[in-house]
Amino acid sequence: MCGIIGIASSKPVSINIINSLKKLEYRGYDSAGIATLKDQLINERKCSGRVDELEKILLKSPSDGNIGIGHVRWATHGIPNLINAHPHSSENVSVVHNGIIENSDELKKILEDKGSKFKSQTDTEVITLLITEALKNMEPLDAVFKTLKDLKGSFALGIIFKDFPDIIIGARRGSPLAVGYSSNENYLGSDSYALKSMTNKISYLDDGETCVLTKNSISFFDVKKNKINKKVHIVSDDENISDKGNYKNFMSKEIFEQPITAKKCVNEYIDSLKKDINILNFPIRPKELKKIVLVGCGTAYHSCLVAKYWFEELSSIEVEIDIASEFRYRKIKFDPKNLYIFVSQSGETADTAAALDICKKNKVKTCSVVNVIESTIARNSDWVLPIHAGPEIGVASTKAFLGQLIVLYILCLKISSVRGDINKSNYNKNIENLKKLPDAIKKTLTLETNIQLMAKEFLNARGSMFLGRGSSFPIALEGALKLKELSYLHAEGYPAGEMKHGPLALIEEGLPVIVIAPKDKYFEKTLSNMQEVIARGGKIFFITDNKKDSISENIRFGLRVPHLDNFLSSILLAVPLQMLAYHVALLKNCDIDKPRNLAKSVTVE
Ligand code: M6R
Repeated sequence: MCGIIGIASSKPVSINIINSLKKLEYRGYDSAGIATLKDQLINERKCSGRVDELEKILLKSPSDGNIGIGHVRWATHGIPNLINAHPHSSENVSVVHNGIIENSDELKKILEDKGSKFKSQTDTEVITLLITEALKNMEPLDAVFKTLKDLKGSFALGIIFKDFPDIIIGARRGSPLAVGYSSNENYLGSDSYALKSMTNKISYLDDGETCVLTKNSISFFDVKKNKINKKVHIVSDDENISDKGNYKNFMSKEIFEQPITAKKCVNEYIDSLKKDINILNFPIRPKELKKIVLVGCGTAYHSCLVAKYWFEELSSIEVEIDIASEFRYRKIKFDPKNLYIFVSQSGETADTAAALDICKKNKVKTCSVVNVIESTIARNSDWVLPIHAGPEIGVASTKAFLGQLIVLYILCLKISSVRGDINKSNYNKNIENLKKLPDAIKKTLTLETNIQLMAKEFLNARGSMFLGRGSSFPIALEGALKLKELSYLHAEGYPAGEMKHGPLALIEEGLPVIVIAPKDKYFEKTLSNMQEVIARGGKIFFITDNKKDSISENIRFGLRVPHLDNFLSSILLAVPLQMLAYHVALLKNCDIDKPRNLAKSVTVE
């Protein structure tokens, strides 16, 4: 993961580097660092904590210079500490790196045999020392190209040179890298978001490309060092990007923004006048589609799982789903009649991007359901369906999950209707219900006070289970993921009917068990599974959209969300689970927006 930034300017750059690093913290927050060049000296400032800490260090001990690079780390090689924090510098070169150098051990050995001394346990330091070696008899660009040839793995790099104080070199293989243009100032960054406060003119490097920045120029090179031109994109302005408003943290803001997310998304895709869904330009005509393959990671994978139930219920189409890190290594029989859909909030998740690349290599049609429309996954897919959720800053995905579900549901309705799998009256009814979704989410959010009380019951728990059947099973998985990610409490999501095949052994007196039971065809079955848990001492938290009287005495806590229809209940039932995880984490004083060991965008394998 990690975030990198570089600025070449006619004025001091450290403040702008710090500001950009704050925006990049979603990529990692194990350590932060900056290196600037002044009077032919590389000046490093680093800390083992967050960017705020680095800013304090810089206030006490400023680091001037009109050219510089910065980094936020998500540790891969070497523990998160000061020594392993980037940049990694020799006397002549300083490097920031996002990605993994797979042959770093081998390269380290070669360098050590030649007398190089390593200070850190990182893979990055081999890059610094290889470039330092090469610079003994080469110009910077040649030295970088020579080094790149030796590296295996994925990376985005930013490099400055003591003896060439006007240039920053950037290189991309696998990990994303953008450059930004301004007057008397140019930028390098892991994404356009980090550069947005400084410029909206962006170019994206493709795999194998390298760039050289000065304050007045940017040159691009392909893998063979031929000069190339790159398209300049004008990126959109996002409102309220980094403003928490009156909320304690981004996650609570994002949870409470969900009625707006739903409204925006529904308005974008539903043509109210025509009473139709305005999804056009299908890369394969819906009637000719053989199979839909949905791929994602984490929460995005859970939205694929929910969508599978919807497609199976509403359409005649076959659906397959997979976790991107599995998909990319499977021996898949690709079929040009299939549509391969990649779901990703960030659009930068390495496994999902790699799975998409494999599809492209196999010449099949791809679609992405993304939040960040300038992202790698969006740019690389044949067809993009944006979720319109706006920037999601909290590491735990909430409003983006909601947006993914809405877009996948809308796509499912459209495909089912074009194929003639649902009749016009049902299609219209489903669209009308969708329009009621924002208000139903608003009502669901009023459950917060009850959820706060419920959260207290998890404080002394040793673990927890989330159970559901049908499309409530992936919602159970998502509830469990949210709870473990935010509160560090062990949580497992299970199909309720599967409990007796093993997990029932985990039930002991007082274990919190969250039962997700909308009034659908599974309702009675889920109630029976719940009784099996009650009989063994499990403490039940029951979440339904059924009438109040279905919340019986044996239940410790009951919550009821509004009922729209059996499809939209999945979306509504996810909301109390987000709030539950949030409040348990808050009571446990966990870092809500930046849970330990995680990052918002997972750009390593
Ligand atoms: O950006 P993506 O949607 O591709 O990210 C996928 C997962 O890393 C992400 O959903 C992760 O599971 C969330 N932190 C969960 O809240």
